Amino acid sequence: GKVRAPTHIISTISDDRGEEPCYAGVPMSSIVEQGYGVGDVISLLWFKRSLPRYCTHFIEICIMLCADHGPCVSGAHNTIVTARAGKDLVSSLVSGLLTIGPRFGGAIDDAARYFKDAYDRGLTPYEFVESMKKKGIRVPGIGHRIKRGDNRDKRVELLQRFARTHFPSVKYMEYAVQVETYTLSKANNLVLNVDGAIGSLFLDLLAGSGMFTKPEIDEIVEIGYLNGLFVLARSIGLIGHTFDQKRLKQPLYRHPWEDVLYTK
Ligand code: ACO
Ligand code: LMR
Repeated sequence: GKVRAPTHIISTISDDRGEEPCYAGVPMSSIVEQGYGVGDVISLLWFKRSLPRYCTHFIEICIMLCADHGPCVSGAHNTIVTARAGKDLVSSLVSGLLTIGPRFGGAIDDAARYFKDAYDRGLTPYEFVESMKKKGIRVPGIGHRIKRGDNRDKRVELLQRFARTHFPSVKYMEYAVQVETYTLSKANNLVLNVDGAIGSLFLDLLAGSGMFTKPEIDEIVEIGYLNGLFVLARSIGLIGHTFDQKRLKQPLYRHPWEDVLYTK
């Protein structure tokens, strides 16, 4: 009979062996002819399934809203400094991407993990926030450098408005809002930030769409797919900042002495 040589790689998301590449079994021609968008492509390559339009639209809104947030944030700053040091596009891009993490843009997965755990265990916002405080862990998805209770993040409002209109259920998001109400009673900077909004709303998307089993949702949350949304989105802005600096022929950046506290 036939002898199958052992393979060294297993891959389940795409296949380029036929006449045309397929994403999760969907041929490229269907993707183009049926007018799929980037949200559909993300659904196929990350989640291995076609999601309903309101889900792919939500993914696209996340990408658009997180594409950039000006030149002063950690990622753009790194990218700008790197581009001004004469480095190439990829170096400038990854320099900015490397700042994405627990404080900046990369709190989405942890926000989803902690909000899910707290909601599923029936913790009140008070019990949740105070238990985090006891453990010395900042609540992921809460807090912002410039946004305040009286100067909310427009991106959060836009995501919430979309989800309230189109999602069958927004129970995790409403829980995150209750957590925010409690944290805002403690300090005015402790708003629900864009990472927290996406983390909680993606839980609602996963649980409410009927497209995922419970073990699949647990696996997505455990592996941590959701920071990928910010990484992907912010790459758009970081690439833009690189081109901007090159176009403006900006010289090598050197931080001013006056802005450093030299001390022993
Ligand atoms: N949970 C609980 N308490 C908090 C939190 C939080 N998430 N954030 C701030 N505080 C409190 C703490 O008491 C903190 O004091 P501490 O330094 O003794 O812990 C106090 O507020 C002041 O905090 P600052 O460090 O001055 O706040 P800062 O403005 O520097 O931090 C940051 C902003 C990094 C976003 C912070 O709120 C945080 O760590 N949040 C959790 C991570 C997160 O969600 N990051 C994503 C932000 S959105 C984005 O990047 C796109
Ligand atoms: C961002 O999206 O980069 C911001 O929310 C972070 C910031 O400090 O403004």
